[in-house]
Amino acid sequence: MSLLEIDSYRLAFDGFEGTATVLDGIDLRVEEGESVGIVGETGCGKSVLARSLLRLNPSPPARVLGGAIRFAGDDVLAMGPTALDTLRRGGIGMVFQDPATYLNPVFTIGQQMAEVLRAHAGATGRRPGARAFRARSIALLRQVQLPEPESLLFRYPHTLSGGMRQRVLIAMALAGEPRLLVADEPTTALDVTVQRQVLDLIVELIAGMRLTLLLVTHDLGVVGAVCRRVVVMYAGCVVEDAPADRIFLSPQHPYTRGLLAAVPDLEQPDHHPVGIPGSIPNLRTPPAGCRFHPRCPLAMPICRERRPEQEEVAPSHRVACHAVMH
Ligand SMILES: Nc1ncnc2c1ncn2[C@@H]1O[C@H](COP(=O)(O)OP(=O)(O)OP(=O)(O)O)[C@@H](O)[C@H]1O
Ligand SMILES: [Mg+2]
Repeated sequence: MSLLEIDSYRLAFDGFEGTATVLDGIDLRVEEGESVGIVGETGCGKSVLARSLLRLNPSPPARVLGGAIRFAGDDVLAMGPTALDTLRRGGIGMVFQDPATYLNPVFTIGQQMAEVLRAHAGATGRRPGARAFRARSIALLRQVQLPEPESLLFRYPHTLSGGMRQRVLIAMALAGEPRLLVADEPTTALDVTVQRQVLDLIVELIAGMRLTLLLVTHDLGVVGAVCRRVVVMYAGCVVEDAPADRIFLSPQHPYTRGLLAAVPDLEQPDHHPVGIPGSIPNLRTPPAGCRFHPRCPLAMPICRERRPEQEEVAPSHRVACHAVMH
């Protein structure tokens, strides 16, 4: 059994202008201890997928059309409120893109950490006192390498730098001792040098705590630095899933190749990045067959008619593409 198993998961958003199927048959496995990156252009459904693991997409307008999500063997889509609460507070820790949004400006870091810890304790039935919360908060802030955690507890979010705030959010995500850490663009809002430090921290944490990591990003450089396996998404579908080195050295799906070709190579000044022609489809009226076919240089008649299934092209390397398989 894998820690996380997603099978044929489909999710749509209903709106005045119609229904958009933003996740269209996601198949994904994450093994305990793995670090997996999810990449793809803006709007391809990375965040919606990440939120789906904790059923955080607001419903309505979100509507599950089918499929299954299992975490540690438990059926996430069938969970009642108590089980879901336990999952959110313990099993899966979540770090989001914009640290400013997820910290409340009117409470100190200490108050917000205590609130998170109180919720976790509530979920496990424990009743620790204020002193225990304080000690645990300090330990968590130290774990994310924040200096002077004792005095940090008395500060308000706006007095912290973006990098520090992101570390606080990572500490909060770790508070419930999760088995899976889901980080959705955890460094996008940070400047480049701070990005590096936060990524290094995540790498150290997952190694030290033997955490499983699901990292969502549109930055292939970030994925290469952190993840062992990469899942490439396009318009709500997984098009390629492979060990990171294979994604970089031997990408198979035309979309993955396009993504890689679009990355500027600083070590080769002669290299001119080329974009992928066309734009991501309207998910209310997606192309039939393979959703990538209108932009695909290898498109064949079958690509317009039949959706390609994921198939193994090498060990642990799966691709959903008619052209690659023919
Ligand atoms: N609450 C919502 N209501 C309606 N549509 C939504 C909602 N949340 C997301 N969507 C739609 O779902 C699709 C996927 O969005 P998502 O945020 O997952 O993209 P993403 O891959 O994370 O992009 P980015 O790289 O910009 O973060 C988009 O078309 C988006 O407009
Ligand atoms: Mg996103």
